[in-house]
Amino acid sequence: MAYESLRNKVAIVTGAAGGIGRETAHRLAAEGAKVLCVDIDDKGALATVDEITAAGGTADAQGADVSSAEDVEQAVTQAVTRFGGLDVMVNIAGVEHFAPITEMLEADFDRVLRINLKGTWLGTKYAALAMAERGGSIVNMSSLAGLVGFPGLTAYCASKAGVVMLTKTAAVELRPAGIRVNAICPAFIDTPMQRRAMSVFDQLLGADGASLPMIERMQGRMGQPSDVTGTIAFLASDDAALTTGTTFVIDGGTSACLS
Ligand SMILES: NC(=O)c1ccc[n+]([C@@H]2O[C@H](COP(=O)([O-])OP(=O)(O)OC[C@H]3O[C@@H](n4cnc5c(N)ncnc54)[C@H](O)[C@@H]3O)[C@@H](O)[C@H]2O)c1
Repeated sequence: MAYESLRNKVAIVTGAAGGIGRETAHRLAAEGAKVLCVDIDDKGALATVDEITAAGGTADAQGADVSSAEDVEQAVTQAVTRFGGLDVMVNIAGVEHFAPITEMLEADFDRVLRINLKGTWLGTKYAALAMAERGGSIVNMSSLAGLVGFPGLTAYCASKAGVVMLTKTAAVELRPAGIRVNAICPAFIDTPMQRRAMSVFDQLLGADGASLPMIERMQGRMGQPSDVTGTIAFLASDDAALTTGTTFVIDGGTSACLS
């Protein structure tokens, strides 16, 4: 275990049925935290719980749509009731949608903003209410796409940029309550979402494999969820006690230069 202070802490991870969320739930449980796995895919969340339990960890599942205030409030209540409080909230659930600006439908734009940005606000709001007495750590999922533009990803980029500013504002506002709020900005992490994205980038660039140079800039490889989960565990832990309002970029240096 790298972060001893996470032992017996109570954590919620949204998007825990797959990809980065699933691996984050595993990592926090391996650090000794009790984890409520939240996802709109309730069967997937339950499967993550079964894996954690089989590995000797403590976890429970809750089906929830992060864009519903009622669902998010219920998930936070479930964590408090089941495990006795809330120390860590990791808002990971998100969706992508590809469409040129001129072709994007209003409903698709609204859906991406509702899940990625409003969902992160709701997770932050209800977690902060539950953490008011004893403080805590909130980690919000932004993206490299929240810092630089990607063609065809208007709504996604706007939602993830919103997460960065939501995080900074929440960090300042919640500082007196001892609640830290940080954002992470990964790029090109090998998950079902990323595999969908690469095939669309290829189409936009006009050929199979045309998007590979983007990966080459990532120190020559796709990221793995484990490249992200260690940063989340650090930010959740007391080792990051003075770290709040930050944006951690996990992109292999991609955004550090122009070429
Ligand atoms: N994969 C990457 O390269 C990458 C890079 C930067 C940021 N991200 C972000 O990381 C997060 C996880 O991405 P991933 O690659 O693991 O994607 P993924 O599609 O593999 O997993 C997303 C999870 O979110 C859940 N989800 C979707 N809508 C939901 C809703 N309304 N309520 C509750 N759960 C919902 C899905 O069921 C799924 O389990 C997303 O926010 C994504 O934008 C991913």
